[in-house]
Amino acid sequence: MSLRGKSIVDLSDFERFELRQFLDTGHDLKRKQKRGEPHEILKGKSMAMIFMKSSTRTRVSFEVGMTQLGGHALYLQPSGTQLGRGETIGDTAQVLSRYCDVIMARVFGHDEVTGLAKYGTVPVINGLSDLLHPCQIMADMMTIEEHRGNLEGQKIVYVGDSNNVSNSIMQGCTIMGMDVTIGSPKGYTPSEEILKKATQLSKKYGTTLEVVNNPDDAVKGADVIYTDTFFSMGQEKSKEKEDALMAFQVNKALVGKAKDDVIVMHCLPAHREEELTSEVMDGPHSVVFDQAENRLHAQKGIIALIV
Ligand code: CP
Ligand code: NVA
Repeated sequence: MSLRGKSIVDLSDFERFELRQFLDTGHDLKRKQKRGEPHEILKGKSMAMIFMKSSTRTRVSFEVGMTQLGGHALYLQPSGTQLGRGETIGDTAQVLSRYCDVIMARVFGHDEVTGLAKYGTVPVINGLSDLLHPCQIMADMMTIEEHRGNLEGQKIVYVGDSNNVSNSIMQGCTIMGMDVTIGSPKGYTPSEEILKKATQLSKKYGTTLEVVNNPDDAVKGADVIYTDTFFSMGQEKSKEKEDALMAFQVNKALVGKAKDDVIVMHCLPAHREEELTSEVMDGPHSVVFDQAENRLHAQKGIIALIV
């Protein structure tokens, strides 16, 4: 079945075989790029990239990805466009769809990206919303396959603040057959709604999904430990939250409680000595820069199939 024309806003909209197609295409395009084989399959195609928030990886990987595929990407910010002067998401989506072949957006409220998908007539890619970060998790799953051979049956433990990244892990990794544990302090666990949706996926795919409030218990038997910032973009900082999350820091002692060959992941940007120590981030278990690289390849796989 073709994925052409499909938006990628929420991984739970996809079946396992569809995510498999994206991952396989990402691996294939990565091999082609490494061998220097031409793969300009999107000549003349354009991507509009709307950024309501800052970005290094997402912006550069999408833009370079489009160039490598023979297409072109436009970087749009509210301050330089009519979005900043109040033109609606719906009108913007309809206009951009007349010029471009795909729209990528990094937004605050998740309804902004679903709005683009509703009113746009071209596929829309969620480049991070407050709720979800699907492209990140596609790159992460490529990275896990490279380092651990497969996804099914692997235990991934996300430790820290429950956020857009952990929400997408609960969806994508579950769909692909991984056992998911979220280790978060009380008050910072996943929302009821996200948990309910992920639990349904976990039943459908026969995996385990648990939320625990103790980091040492969480990482027992982990094949993958994953963490992210205490404070996501747009969130207010508080000492209370910082204190609660410091107890979940990914440091050498915590990594020592997982499997000997555990890999440590972080979507980046990292806040060294907060959610993880430099010793771990620069140490032998860390694959964080492979993850960052795979944003490029995974997203090329997605664009190649939906555009
Ligand atoms: N991981 C990630 O999305 O990074 P950026 O915020 O730099 O895009
Ligand atoms: N959870 C983080 C991810 C950044 C890539 C944020 O939303 O800021």
